Amino acid sequence: MKFRFKQFVYFCGIVGIGLACQQRQANQQEKEEKSPSDYPQVEQESFGTIEGKEVTLFTLQNSQGMKVKITNYGGIISQLWVPDKEGQLEDVVLGFDHLEDYLKGSPYFGAIVGRYGNRIAKGQFELDGELYSLATNDGSNHLHGGKKGFDKVLWDAEYLVDEKNVKLLLSYHSIDGEEGYPGNLSVKVVYTLTDENALKIEYYATTDKKTIVNLTNHSYFNLKGAGKGDILEHQLTIYASKFSPVNQELIPTGELQPVEGTAFDFRKAVAVGARIQKEDTQLKFGRGYDHNFVLNRTGEQLFEAATVVEPVSGRKMQVFTSEPGVQFYSGNFLDGSLTGKDQRVYEHRYGFCLETQHFPDTPNQPGFPSVILEPGQTYQSTTVYKFSLANENKK
Ligand code: BGC
Repeated sequence: MKFRFKQFVYFCGIVGIGLACQQRQANQQEKEEKSPSDYPQVEQESFGTIEGKEVTLFTLQNSQGMKVKITNYGGIISQLWVPDKEGQLEDVVLGFDHLEDYLKGSPYFGAIVGRYGNRIAKGQFELDGELYSLATNDGSNHLHGGKKGFDKVLWDAEYLVDEKNVKLLLSYHSIDGEEGYPGNLSVKVVYTLTDENALKIEYYATTDKKTIVNLTNHSYFNLKGAGKGDILEHQLTIYASKFSPVNQELIPTGELQPVEGTAFDFRKAVAVGARIQKEDTQLKFGRGYDHNFVLNRTGEQLFEAATVVEPVSGRKMQVFTSEPGVQFYSGNFLDGSLTGKDQRVYEHRYGFCLETQHFPDTPNQPGFPSVILEPGQTYQSTTVYKFSLANENKK
């Protein structure tokens, strides 16, 4: 009996110690867990080196759990975590886990694109009677800033956190003649993650010589989650009554064609894949959608360019911009040859881009809104990607 009692005391002792340990662990966890008042916040870590210079990966997080990772190499948004209707976070942009993969070759995943987003025919344009020749990197045309555009340079970075927002400020000085462009260009890009689940991107530039500028961000979105299927069932609305038809090299013809009665009519929500296989010369040239849409904007204020809803997760993304156009690219050149984050393979049309911008080849198209920047002026452009749930307002 005595023996049994001793055993019981011993057993209680062990259980007691176990419980005490558990309690201590729980207290510890509680201390480590952050409360909403700890946000917004920013963290930074090394993302490797390039030409002997340190590359940094910044994590911006708001009190809603939304989180974005941005590196100062190319200003690349490498991760963007957004909740679905169950509150489950998913990374909704395509990208890589490591800097080396971006260096090996990336189709502009998440990057800042400049000095000129999109194509300039033959890489040539005239300014005040002078002919400028830019680097050509897309057949005989210039694409997304040339061979070493803003997506491939290291930006200076600093961050700012206030009560509601967290900001990453990137700056880059592009020298006169870089990739063939005239003028020393000072560029600033400000990423802001707001507490309302919006990622705002502001672009600023000044020059010391008349030049051209057209900056954008080249994120590939998949609201199911990066690498988790194609984007053909995403419901897309683009607030544009006209688009820019292109030639075989994807250079605009100069015409602005009404979308009415075409596969380019996204004025009411329709699945990206609903008409993508249609017999259509423009879809053939683009291998799908790869076209500039002329936004129905009036005035200077931010305009809702597009809305995308992923029906299963309920994730919704609205794109607001100060720009006159948006390039809708349905990821036609993705072909399964790239393996992205988490070892996920990016197959055909696994991501889409909505690149807010001035129209492609504007320097050679007198009818398009101007992209000229003069000394003394400041180039300014804003785009907001706002995330919410599809039926949030109906609740
Ligand atoms: C262009 C596509 C191009 C892609 C690069 C898009 O902005 O419109 O034609 O292939 O960028 O990955």
